[in-house]
Amino acid sequence: MTADPSLRWYCAPEQVPEALRGKLATCWRDVADAGGAVGFAQRLPVGDDVVRPVVDELVAGLDPRLRRLLVATRAGDLAGWLVLTGNADPVVAHWGRVTHVQTALPARGTGIARLLMAEVARAAREDLGLASLRLEVRGGMGLEGFYGQFGWTVAGCWPGALQISADDRRDEVLMGLDLVLIPRATVLTHAPRF
Ligand SMILES: CC(C)(COP(=O)(O)OP(=O)(O)OC[C@H]1O[C@@H](n2cnc3c(N)ncnc32)[C@H](O)[C@@H]1OP(=O)(O)O)[C@@H](O)C(=O)NCCC(=O)NCCS
Repeated sequence: MTADPSLRWYCAPEQVPEALRGKLATCWRDVADAGGAVGFAQRLPVGDDVVRPVVDELVAGLDPRLRRLLVATRAGDLAGWLVLTGNADPVVAHWGRVTHVQTALPARGTGIARLLMAEVARAAREDLGLASLRLEVRGGMGLEGFYGQFGWTVAGCWPGALQISADDRRDEVLMGLDLVLIPRATVLTHAPRF
């Protein structure tokens, strides 16, 4: 993959064409089957019959404020994606949650995740006015270091919360990103231009 990547937010179900839904399912299936921490752990390997309905459910819940899908493409191929979820309750409406962070196997190590993480921080702060973001990480994957380079810090963990398989129980690591304290340059340096 050599062409410049592009990023796009999808904020409503009707914005997501059938072809993209299929690509999301294929990417998610392949990432999960390759051992990625993106769900389906006890059902691996997963097929399209399992993943596709979950994609459709996710897309059906898209909403400008409460659930946005960020997709990276390169040369027409899906290169990576994530989901940003907000809160309707005013008590917790000032923070959001990032989930489903993944890059397609052929796009690994090409900077797509860096683009996604920069854009989700930018959009959360500038477009949605959020003060902070949260995410949960499967322990033992080295992902704390990945998010840490983008300013995320570990807030704590739920010990042994994740039963990945019969003999594999992991901590669920809780991470956060303060969008108020984070230096502006950190957010914008890697943000794409539209
Ligand atoms: C985690 C993931 C999204 C990273 O994607 P990627 O394609 O490697 O990301 P990039 O190419 O944008 O790399 C960005 C930077 O992160 C670094 N990085 C990637 N994986 C890392 C890890 N596990 N730990 C620490 N740093 C990591 C890269 O070295 C790169 O740093 P550099 O720019 O200084 O060289 C990808 O490996 C993935 O999809 N994993 C499976 C799904 C998953 O587990 N998602 C996390 C859910 S919580």
